[in-house]
Order: sequence, then C-alpha cells, then structure tokens
Amino acid sequence: SHLVSLGWLLQVALSSVVALGANIICNKIPGLAPRQRALCQSRPDAIIVIGEGAQLGINECQYQFRYGRWNCSALGERTVFGQELRVGSREAAFTYAITAAGVAHAVTTACSQGNLSQCGCDREKQGYHDYQEEGWKWGGCSADVKYGVEFSRRFVDAREIKKNARRLMNLHNNEAGRKILEERMKLECKCHGVSGSCTTKTCWITLPKFREIGYLLKERYSDAVQVEPVRASRLRQPSFLRLKEARGYQKPTDTDLVYLERSPNYCEEDTATGSTGTRGRLCNGTSTHTDSCNVMCCGRGYNTHHYTRIWQCNCKFHWCCFVKCNTCSEKSEVFTCK
Ligand SMILES: *[C@@H]1O[C@H](CO)[C@@H](O)[C@H](O)[C@H]1NC(C)=O
Ligand SMILES: *[C@@H]1O[C@H](CO)[C@@H](O)[C@H](O)[C@H]1NC(C)=O
Ligand SMILES: *[C@@H]1O[C@H](CO)[C@@H](O)[C@H](O)[C@H]1NC(C)=O
Repeated sequence: SHLVSLGWLLQVALSSVVALGANIICNKIPGLAPRQRALCQSRPDAIIVIGEGAQLGINECQYQFRYGRWNCSALGERTVFGQELRVGSREAAFTYAITAAGVAHAVTTACSQGNLSQCGCDREKQGYHDYQEEGWKWGGCSADVKYGVEFSRRFVDAREIKKNARRLMNLHNNEAGRKILEERMKLECKCHGVSGSCTTKTCWITLPKFREIGYLLKERYSDAVQVEPVRASRLRQPSFLRLKEARGYQKPTDTDLVYLERSPNYCEEDTATGSTGTRGRLCNGTSTHTDSCNVMCCGRGYNTHHYTRIWQCNCKFHWCCFVKCNTCSEKSEVFTCK
C-alpha cells in the first residue's frame, strides 16, 4: 500500500500544515491506514518528522545495497513506504526494519531539539538522580529514545491491517529495527574540573549515528532466518512465527530479521516481485564481489564505455609568483550491464 508520498510531504512545510490545517493535509496524503490518518490529524507536527525518518531509512538502504543487484529500488525515490515489496523476502525484512528504526531515530532527534510539542529530553534522566556512582551525574539532554520508539510503533506498525503471516513478519522486523537502535544508545560524558582534570563528569544518553544502524541491520540481513506461520488450533489466523528449519516451535530472537519466502535473483525486471533488474547498472570489471560485472549482469554481458580523465598535475611554484602545472590524463572505462 502507498502510505506517505514523500515527494509530496517534502513540499509541505510545517508552516503550511499549520496554515492549511491538519485535516486537509492528512486527507491528502495517499494510502494512510485509518489509524495513521488519525495520528496524522492529532499530531500534524510529527508527520513531517515521520517523513524525514522514512527518508533516512531509504537513504541508508540505498547506501548499504549500492553494490547489490537489488539496490533498494522498490522503496522508490518519491514515496516513503512506496511500492512495497510484495514478496516476503529478506529484502522486504530489511526495508521494514530500517524504516521503523529511521522513524524512531528521527522522532527522538526532533524531541531532543525541541521540535515536537509533546516530547523533549528524557525526563527520567534530567537533574541529578540516583546513578551518582564513580563521580558522574546525569546532565545535559538525554535522548528520549523510548518516546521515539513508541511513536514509530504507533505510526509505522499501524499499516499492518491484514491478519496474515506477512503482518507477523513485518511487525517482527519493525520491532527488530527499533530494538537494534535502542541497544546502540550511547553514554556521552563531559569532564568538569580544573585544567581538564576529570574530578566530576556530566553524562547523558545520545543516539548512535544512523550509519551504524545501517551496518548492523545489513549484518542482520545476511543472517536473516526463514520462518513460517503457526496457527493456534482453533483460530484460523496465524498467531506466531517459528523457525522453518528448526524442530519443535523455536521462535526467532527479538533482533533476528525474518522472512517467509526466498528472494528472487533480481536479474530481470519483474513488477510482481519488485525487481527492477540490473540492465544499465554500473558494474566493476575487477571486483570479485556482488558488484562484479559477472554477478551484477547475471551473465548477460556488459557494455564498455571509454573516457579520458584530464587534470592538472605536478604543479610547481615559481618565484615569484606563479604556479606551473602539467596536464595529466588517464584513460578510464566504465561498464554497464546489458
Ligand atoms: C528542528 O527544527 C530546526 C529549525 O526549524 C530545523 O533546522 C531542524 O532540522 C529540525 N530538526 C529535526 C530533527 O527535524
Ligand atoms: C537502482 O537500480 C535501478 C535499475 O537499474 C536504477 O534505475 C536506479 O537508479 C538504481 N538506484 C540507485 C539508488 O542506485
Ligand atoms: C572495483 O573493485 C576493485 C576491487 O574490489 C576496487 O579496488 C575498485 O575501486 C573498484 N572500482 C570502482 C570503479 O568502483
């Protein structure tokens, strides 16, 4: 389902949300689930931040998969939850986890910066509380990640309205993304004391850089586990997921990414699977990894484009006062998949 059209959202500054009124704005965003629309109407200031968070996730996804056949394309460039991947693959698992984490990250950041009306710094850690061990105390602005995570839960998870296995998969991966974010919160401290001595310290909790979350989720993607739905006896709806290869009812861990179906190979364009294919993609003639022309082009071969790079080199300073350079050039090639 199309949830939030980002290109559209970014054109809408917060000021116009205020000017036009939440009702009009929230009704215009295509594809919101009913509970998302209600949240949009009650918190119009947050909808912009949610859009930024989803974009954070998309950008990170494209960075992490820049050398892969699947390059995050089905997330789309102009829609936040754009064309979603219809196959319950490990790529879909990654996109859900990184989007949920991105929204939690952006909301938490906005809280710390005072940009959202109902949150701020983590109040539990404001002032000087219990933890006064080893000469440090809470101070500054601790990021209220609990609020960001809860907000992501309320908004991102609200799109799962169908009661099927895919819903369980999506919710699990959303939660895994947020959990990994929470686990990477950091303690940052500042020393106080004469001439830099650290007789007392003030410490606060900060968010990790989102790049770090990207790398962690990429590792989780590589280790993703296949699951299958289990229906509790009398109910028809699947009620939980269990590891497919395991004996008994072993469940995935909280931070596992889970998938239901094997991935397509993403070689050819296929709207049914959300594959854009690799025709026209750049590939690397010397790499032995997934960006090699062999792997990237799926054996179809590649086109070679020659060009010459020219630049100023061996520059020397002459007394006085000019610089003389040579012109250097280098022949280069780039390869694109047939
Ligand atoms: C918070 O608001 C300031 C000023 O309006 C803006 O520059 C900044 O990007 C906002 N931060 C977030 C996380 O939205
Ligand atoms: C991903 O691959 C598609 C298909 O080759 C291409 O059109 C698109 O520009 C790529 N996107 C990114 C972000 O590299
Ligand atoms: C191609 O791959 C090689 C080996 O992995 C790497 O050193 C080189 O920088 C890559 N070239 C490009 C254009 O990315």
